[in-house]
Amino acid sequence: MKQEGKFITFEGIEKCGKGTIIKKAETYLKNKGLDVVLGREPGGISFGEDIRNILLNSKYRGKICLLSELALFYASRAQYSLDFVKPNLKQGKIVLSDRYYDSTYAYQGFGRIKEKDERQGMLDVIKVFNYLFTENTHPNLTIILDISVDEMIERMNKQKQKKDRFEKEKKEFHERVREGYLWVANQFKKRCVLVSNERPLEETLDEVKLHLDCLLEKYYKQ
Ligand code: TYD
Repeated sequence: MKQEGKFITFEGIEKCGKGTIIKKAETYLKNKGLDVVLGREPGGISFGEDIRNILLNSKYRGKICLLSELALFYASRAQYSLDFVKPNLKQGKIVLSDRYYDSTYAYQGFGRIKEKDERQGMLDVIKVFNYLFTENTHPNLTIILDISVDEMIERMNKQKQKKDRFEKEKKEFHERVREGYLWVANQFKKRCVLVSNERPLEETLDEVKLHLDCLLEKYYKQ
């Protein structure tokens, strides 16, 4: 029987550099002769891309409550894991995903909930949903790219495209999202690595490659 593929997710706050790093990771793995596919969340498949357009649209700023936002992310995720992640893993491919369920811990669990003592209930719900809506499809490795919120703002000020609904959030929101990612890294130490991307790209990339090699060593060497 063919060996099940491996699932690698890339996470981080806005402007953390996921897009660039994931492309480089894809090339790195493909150059090793591996069968690699790339997806993203929300989106990745046409149904998900339509949901993405709703979720990111600035016209809904302040008009989508936390629960409907959460429901839309999980509607997208259920279909993405069923139609994209699972079949590719079954075929033995390496699936790279630009965001997955750790974004929900960080954005909905931390970003959207200001009061610390109100968070736990939501984090528990997200954990259950991560089993239910993905039919137990969990990453083997999660690379969290870390930058400070000040660096994020600096990078955002340089961007030419219009800001989406999340990018338009206040600084405090992004501080909480970052705190969320630090929580995720600490909570799920076995699969998560925190990699600083506030340094030259080559240095970040070298560290990411080390983590990818570690995963390959673990699963593909006899
Ligand atoms: P992203 O792909 O990073 O957008 P961009 O290509 O502009 O960098 O992600 C879309 C946005 O959705 C991002 O702001 C994070 C947010 N998000 C959540 O709030 N919860 C989630 O569960 C996911 C997957 C994304």
